[in-house]
Amino acid sequence: MFLQFALLLPVASILAIPTGEPANGESRGIYWPFPDPSAQQDTAGVSVKNTQCGQVYPIDSSSAYRVQSPFLPLNYPPSVNCKFDFLGTAGCVPIITCSEFNLARGDSVEVSDGMGASQKYEGTTGPQNVSSGVSAMRVHFQSGFFSIGKGFNCTVSCAGNSTTVNAITNALSNPQTVSCKCGVPGGQVNEETRIVGGRNAPMDYWSWQAALIFIGRQAPFCGGALINDRYVLTAAHCVVTTGLVAFPQLSQVVFNEYDITSSNDTTVVRSVTRVIPHPFYDPTNQDYDVSLIEFSPPLNLTSSQAPKLTPVCLPPRGTRDTYAAKNGTVIGWGTLTEGGEQSALLQEATIPVITNDECNKKYSNKITPRMVCAAYPQGGIDSCQGDSGGPFMVYSNSNRYAEVGIVSFGEGCARSDKPGVYARVTDLNDWIRQTAWTANWCQE
Ligand SMILES: *[C@@H]1O[C@H](CO)[C@@H](O)[C@H](O)[C@H]1NC(C)=O
Ligand SMILES: *[C@@H]1O[C@H](CO)[C@@H](O)[C@H](O)[C@H]1NC(C)=O
Ligand SMILES: *[C@@H]1O[C@H](CO)[C@@H](O)[C@H](O)[C@H]1NC(C)=O
Ligand SMILES: *[C@@H]1O[C@H](CO)[C@@H](O)[C@H](O)[C@H]1NC(C)=O
Ligand SMILES: *[C@@H]1O[C@H](CO)[C@@H](O)[C@H](O)[C@H]1NC(C)=O
Ligand SMILES: *[C@@H]1O[C@H](CO)[C@@H](O)[C@H](O)[C@H]1NC(C)=O
Repeated sequence: MFLQFALLLPVASILAIPTGEPANGESRGIYWPFPDPSAQQDTAGVSVKNTQCGQVYPIDSSSAYRVQSPFLPLNYPPSVNCKFDFLGTAGCVPIITCSEFNLARGDSVEVSDGMGASQKYEGTTGPQNVSSGVSAMRVHFQSGFFSIGKGFNCTVSCAGNSTTVNAITNALSNPQTVSCKCGVPGGQVNEETRIVGGRNAPMDYWSWQAALIFIGRQAPFCGGALINDRYVLTAAHCVVTTGLVAFPQLSQVVFNEYDITSSNDTTVVRSVTRVIPHPFYDPTNQDYDVSLIEFSPPLNLTSSQAPKLTPVCLPPRGTRDTYAAKNGTVIGWGTLTEGGEQSALLQEATIPVITNDECNKKYSNKITPRMVCAAYPQGGIDSCQGDSGGPFMVYSNSNRYAEVGIVSFGEGCARSDKPGVYARVTDLNDWIRQTAWTANWCQE
């Protein structure tokens, strides 16, 4: 219906049609007329659903999606900027194939899955069976200011060799574990009597804290947290803005680091083999600010040798806890004051979580569901520059720490009206677990 109505209008007024925001409340550009999303065709037991741009579609082996240029089979208009996002569930690895593909000069469809080399398709060569084995895919169509082209007709489904799909599914519900416990810090400190506020962390306590460094430099550019025997969890902005996605071999992860000015610490250093930012990461608003860093060789988490490295826990799968009003702890070597010097010793601070509604008031509604905020009403204690990528953790009744946030952004540091914003791990949990499915985990 909408499609036919829109066709009667000249391009200029179509551009003005923006009937508001996609259902999930995010603005990702103009809402183009696409085929009716409720219409679907069934082929061989798989229903093929239509898509709208600006939406995230969960996909499993019983579903597939049609991704088309607006107005197909007619030509597409100029100045389209459309993102179609697919999030594999139940072990699904999205794969894209186009039956029709014919773009005007300069226009492109970019397929990215977070593995660094996103692939741009132009002209008449569209993607055929393109997938790289991770659980999320973004298809990004852009047309130029003056261009009009024939368009594309693609399908996104699940790749499968069922062996891999089953292995990922299995790893999600029943991860491979070794005999260790996540979230148990090194050393003995009575949690109940910890002083609240920014201060030096105890030495050898935060046994999952990782320093991300450029080879040859001692000062970390970002923090991260060990989550299993071969992955560090960090922020996407740490690896995207530094170019690390393309050149992972320029960096290293350092564990058991405490004083970054001393070569005294018994650090454990690993080379970085892959950097996997979330494919939906948006540098303009820091949505999906999460990345995995695969290092090599894997750590032996059951080793009795010092130093003892333990991974932090992820929140339990499927938990919807918002953590509002709970106290969280953030750690890092960030600057101690806004614009100040990086701290030599690892710092820790305890900060209460505030609701996204409250946080949205301070950030003019720019807080997405993939974010969690923490702040004292009076300001004063916060994460700061250089803490990026590090963990924001909540201590649970079972005496373990779970990483509920990843240091993402904030306007200034410790300003009373600008909370610290963290990537919300509960909303990124399945992507993390599916992407790191080959790892060995400690018991939750
Ligand atoms: C897109 O391709 C599918 C099958 O490949 C076909 O059934 C459908 O009609 C095509 N859509 C358009 C608008 O051409
Ligand atoms: C894509 O996969 C389909 C089904 O597995 C296969 O028939 C086809 O030949 C493949 N195309 C390419 C270009 O690999
Ligand atoms: C399935 O995929 C995995 C990894 O890509 C590969 O190692 C394995 O041989 C494949 N199995 C089959 C039956 O094709
Ligand atoms: C190295 O460690 C020792 C013992 O922990 C300490 O006394 C010394 O001050 C440290 N040296 C530096 C340069 O930090
Ligand atoms: C890990 O360390 C434990 C205890 O030191 C040892 O028994 C085990 O063989 C090690 N595992 C590997 C894979 O090296
Ligand atoms: C958070 O910490 C503050 C300061 O220690 C304390 O007063 C408050 O009760 C704590 N809140 C919760 C929910 O534990």
